[in-house]
Amino acid sequence: MTLVSLSVKALTVEFSDAGYKVRPLNGLSFDCGDGQLVVLLGPSGCGKTTLLSCLAGLLKPTSGSIWFNDSEVSGLRGPALSAYRRQTVGVVFQAFGLIPSLNALSNVSVRLRRPGVSRSVARERAMALLAQVGLDGLAGHRPGQLSYGQQQKVALARALVYDPPLILVDEPTAHLDFIEVEGILRLLRALAAPGRTVVVATHDQRISRLADKAGREMLISRGAALYGLRLAIRSLGDLPVTKLLPGPRPAAAAGPDTRGTARR
Ligand SMILES: Nc1ncnc2c1ncn2[C@@H]1O[C@H](COP(=O)(O)OP(=O)(O)O)[C@@H](O)[C@H]1O
Ligand SMILES: [Mg+2]
Repeated sequence: MTLVSLSVKALTVEFSDAGYKVRPLNGLSFDCGDGQLVVLLGPSGCGKTTLLSCLAGLLKPTSGSIWFNDSEVSGLRGPALSAYRRQTVGVVFQAFGLIPSLNALSNVSVRLRRPGVSRSVARERAMALLAQVGLDGLAGHRPGQLSYGQQQKVALARALVYDPPLILVDEPTAHLDFIEVEGILRLLRALAAPGRTVVVATHDQRISRLADKAGREMLISRGAALYGLRLAIRSLGDLPVTKLLPGPRPAAAAGPDTRGTARR
């Protein structure tokens, strides 16, 4: 088993929007290691989704770099980038991205369908993943017949098809009630095991509170304040606690932010 490590170095993302510059990430640096569940906690608009998009290889940062194990994610191109997106990283977007006309099983197995993988093998693997997230009894249901929490779990099962060592989850508790939140958190905690790192972006304080109540992990918060983005790293078992390196204070943006970004 390979130990995983994720390193974000001086990451800056600047968007141009109607002639104005918006810089949600400005010199963000942090490291996290094997088996860790990293919680990115910050208010809406502080740059969490932007950061996850960079980690997923979907968005190129303006400057800085992201390293996953020995590979510079921010420098990947072409087939190497495609392979990273497909196999190294599993992403659960806030909107889930499920296909409404397909049932839960097909929504998961469709990611596995490619030359050389038979339909029955894909379905068997998808069924095992649905069982892992506790949804095997609902495999025949379409997204519209499932609660938000159940849809979230289908999206999680779909993200796991290639057993990725890096899992990114954006706002997992949006729209969920208290009971569903606990179910999702239990799953995410179980996924953050040796050989894997899980990064969760949220503005929901319940994530920290519930995790604390479970009392199995120690919360280390160094309050790396970058446009209100706080990072908390949960270290499982005896794994070493990773240090957070606060980046420089954000420079004044080149123009006013007209998008109502919440910044603290
Ligand atoms: N493609 C884009 N073009 C211009 N501005 C963007 C773009 N994506 C995000 N932003 C802006 O960047 C800031 C951070 O957005 P986001 O990462 O979605 O925040 P969060 O996920 O923390 O709510 C916001 O001000 C948002 O409007
Ligand atoms: Mg977001």
